[in-house]
Amino acid sequence: MVLFPHLAAGLPQSTRITWSWRRRFLIIPVLVIVGFVAFVYMGGVDIVPANYRPAFDFSALLPGSAGSSGSSSTSSAPPAVPTFSDPRAPISTSPEKDHHSTYSFDINGGPDKDLFSDWMALAPDDLSLAHMSIPGTHDTMTHNIDLLGYRCQNADLDKQLMGGVRYLDIRARVQIDLTTDDLVSDGPRTLGIYHARAYTGYSFGDVLQTVAGFLDAHPSETIVMRLKEEGPPINGSAHDAAGLTADDGTALNVPSKSGAPFLDAFENYLQNDGHLQSHLFQYAEAREGAVGVQHIPTLGELRGKVLLLQEFPYFPQSMSYTGRPSAVPMYGIPWYLESDLLAVEDKWIMRNLDDLDGKWDAVKASLRAAAKQAVDNKADAGSGPNPKLYLSHLSASIGVTPIDAATGPTNQSTEGINDRTGAFVDRGKELYSDDYADVYTPVGIVMADFPGMRLMRTLIKRNKHMNT
Ligand SMILES: *[C@@H]1O[C@H](CO)[C@@H](O)[C@H](O)[C@H]1NC(C)=O
Ligand SMILES: *[C@@H]1O[C@H](CO)[C@@H](O)[C@H](O)[C@H]1NC(C)=O
Repeated sequence: MVLFPHLAAGLPQSTRITWSWRRRFLIIPVLVIVGFVAFVYMGGVDIVPANYRPAFDFSALLPGSAGSSGSSSTSSAPPAVPTFSDPRAPISTSPEKDHHSTYSFDINGGPDKDLFSDWMALAPDDLSLAHMSIPGTHDTMTHNIDLLGYRCQNADLDKQLMGGVRYLDIRARVQIDLTTDDLVSDGPRTLGIYHARAYTGYSFGDVLQTVAGFLDAHPSETIVMRLKEEGPPINGSAHDAAGLTADDGTALNVPSKSGAPFLDAFENYLQNDGHLQSHLFQYAEAREGAVGVQHIPTLGELRGKVLLLQEFPYFPQSMSYTGRPSAVPMYGIPWYLESDLLAVEDKWIMRNLDDLDGKWDAVKASLRAAAKQAVDNKADAGSGPNPKLYLSHLSASIGVTPIDAATGPTNQSTEGINDRTGAFVDRGKELYSDDYADVYTPVGIVMADFPGMRLMRTLIKRNKHMNT
């Protein structure tokens, strides 16, 4: 057999021998290519998509930068750096009372506050999580922070869960208590819940306890939890009275023996905290050797469990601590802005209130994309290709305060994103087409600051099976 029989057929014997030799030489480049591919897949090169949102881009947290209250890294920052509305402005009284928003605030205690404590019980097991409408919160744990720029919620976690919230945005930093820790040992270290440099007063253990308690009492429900490493390890005893860490410029970047303190701390919770152990949804596909999770699970798979969106790096034993995530997410779906599994809308840096119009366009596009996917996939019939999770952040900050972005400024010169979203989703017809206004057009996961019960109802009703 020769490589190109139609060429070799008419050639004299000697020339055919030459072809055969050429064929042997061809093996060398083939081996080189095969070897390179094997090298890449065995970890010689990080296979990290270019749009991975690095968990370690902390530049926005450092003194002298524009601000730090954002919901994400600085990769989506516009070129002009806006002025941060003073994040240190203290909240003297309850700021909610000066804002007028139909879709905000009363998750903390309106008449319907417990109406949606078990809303997922009505949805069928075979429904993909990606074909649902799910209310969530952004910077979930911040209700105690007494600073306008860092406070994004007015209700505690338990009230949010009872009100229908099923997506949590949990941001943690490794807290090292320098009054007792010698920095050398790899003893258990706490994950404290922070918004940038502001301490919420909660630990990851507190979050797990509330979540597990809720799921035990409401086993039909599932919770999607983004867990983000919010900054480098921090001197856990160094908060001032307002909850601000003394100075992020001197934030400790503490090496530990394995080189990955956040992962150490997380795995310590996994090994020692029954709350996490018994409630974390385990993927077969996320084990060693597989890159990522192949599908978004169904509600049936997830009931009583926490689905983690992992925004902290996992390091195989052999890798040094470089601040880069490895290609193997161990505990959940890796947090990407765009991947086969996730599509995240997170335009969050505003120069001023005028920028809310652009923000709203981005939110609308994301809600529509989620609805289109569900209709195109015939989600209702359970058919269609593997869907993605669409995640839309209604939150924004920097040149506006989170409360103004969510609910509009107190003089009502413009409408907040919660109200724009609530009215838009209520109308329904612009989500896909007029024909679909009243039928099943779910909008994905929608994260809000200061949400109210009417926003809960509006989103939950988009799931066909809820006639609330
Ligand atoms: C850590 O914080 C404590 C309490 O504020 C302080 O006494 C100590 O000096 C800090 N250590 C470092 C290294 O910043
Ligand atoms: C309304 O309040 C916002 C924020 O406080 C301010 O920027 C804006 O100029 C005010 N608009 C009017 C019309 O007063």
